[in-house]
Amino acid sequence: MSPRDRSVYRCQQCGFASPKPGTCPDCKRASGELVALVEERSRPSSGTRRSVASTRRSVTPSSGPRPIRDIAMDDAERRRTGIGELDRVLGGGVVPGSLVLIGGDPGIGKSTLLLQAARALAEAAPPVLYVSAEESAVQVKLRAERLGAVADGLLLWAEGDLEAVQAAVHDLKPRALVIDSIQTVFLPELESAPGSVAQVRECGARLMTLAKGTGVATFLVGHVTKEGAIAGPRVLEHLVDTVLYFEGERHHAYRVLRAVKNRFGSTNEIGVFQMAERGLIEVTNPSGLFLAERPRDVPGSVIVSSLEGTRPLLLELQALVSPAPFGTPRRTVLGVDYNRACLLLAVLEKRVGMPLGSQDVFINVAGGGRVTEPAADLGIVIAAASSYMDRPARGDVVVMGEVGLTGEIRAVTGVEVRVKEAAALGFREAVVPKSNLADGTRLALPALGVDTIHAAIDALLG
Ligand code: TYD
Ligand code: MG
Repeated sequence: MSPRDRSVYRCQQCGFASPKPGTCPDCKRASGELVALVEERSRPSSGTRRSVASTRRSVTPSSGPRPIRDIAMDDAERRRTGIGELDRVLGGGVVPGSLVLIGGDPGIGKSTLLLQAARALAEAAPPVLYVSAEESAVQVKLRAERLGAVADGLLLWAEGDLEAVQAAVHDLKPRALVIDSIQTVFLPELESAPGSVAQVRECGARLMTLAKGTGVATFLVGHVTKEGAIAGPRVLEHLVDTVLYFEGERHHAYRVLRAVKNRFGSTNEIGVFQMAERGLIEVTNPSGLFLAERPRDVPGSVIVSSLEGTRPLLLELQALVSPAPFGTPRRTVLGVDYNRACLLLAVLEKRVGMPLGSQDVFINVAGGGRVTEPAADLGIVIAAASSYMDRPARGDVVVMGEVGLTGEIRAVTGVEVRVKEAAALGFREAVVPKSNLADGTRLALPALGVDTIHAAIDALLG
């Protein structure tokens, strides 16, 4: 055997390669166990090497350096998918020749979303090719009938061989292509199994070449590992133009589509959907959805305004504080960062003197929502204090502010839009950081500025 044909042993999580078997030096499973390297025959054919080189060439048409002013933009070419929430996350529609990866847990609705998008695209700009390597054509047809997605220009193919797909794309010249999923398609020339790092990486590169070469807008479905990353190598995320995550709690109807990388738009935008009997429905007023079952005048419930990109989202934060029956008190947190919550409880204990060290604390975002930004800090503090004091926070008030370790309340971004959303949903008042009011900001609701958590507790629970 010549040295060139020798096997490499590759980590299936990060792509690390070693000439010897063993475990990955960098990766550990959540359980703490090491990740074994998997044998791969390294036989990069000259064909694949050529394909990667031509990807580079077609991404930057080689007309030499030009003045930036003279470079023409063809943004008008963006095509609407007909699903407003998806278009928004993509940055205003899909760009021809772009490669979009949609990741998410199994069963979250990736295939449903793309089938609905394929239907709409097929009506606007036929033909569209939907390649399903996971389900049979009949299975997909059944779903399409349920979704009302049996459109004229929509071609369906249950095929896993990417070379065949490549040939079909050259023949049929579709305007858009859906690959469901990147982990189940394969290139026959590679010896590793579908879903392995080698396959996923090569298939990704091949599809990139195809997209850039033919201008077909390509959507890839990608499954997510238990750790939450898109299965397969990181390199796939680097390669594609756009990475979207489709997430939500399995037992709640709503789903959030989030951009984590976008070469053609902002990564802050989110799209909200509801999974219904006949597929995904766009939710244009997500705050209303999250607040639908809000209880009134009960301790431990506070409404915060979280900003997702340019879009404010009102969420209900709930806390339950009760004496700990056994030694170590419990801290259970859902939808909020655990460390952040512990930090805020410590601030509450130290600065206000609430003896939370002897209490179990549970914090939850109602409806299965999630807050990631510090502007929700004050909401968490007030919810916990409200539950501990067994006193409801004043109703119809929306709360926002970042809390520092000395108990000070710090300014948040986008106060105007946050308060405006609350006003639109019938709130009467806002409690905001004092420093946000300093520059004469005009808000849609009467606002009370607070600068310490003491002041906020007095105002809301006093
Ligand atoms: P699916 O799109 O197959 O998920 P993924 O491709 O991400 O694995 O969606 C699967 C779930 O969605 C399934 O559990 C059933 C549910 N569903 C509905 O509730 N209504 C519908 O109209 C459809 C098509 C699916
Ligand atoms: Mg699927």
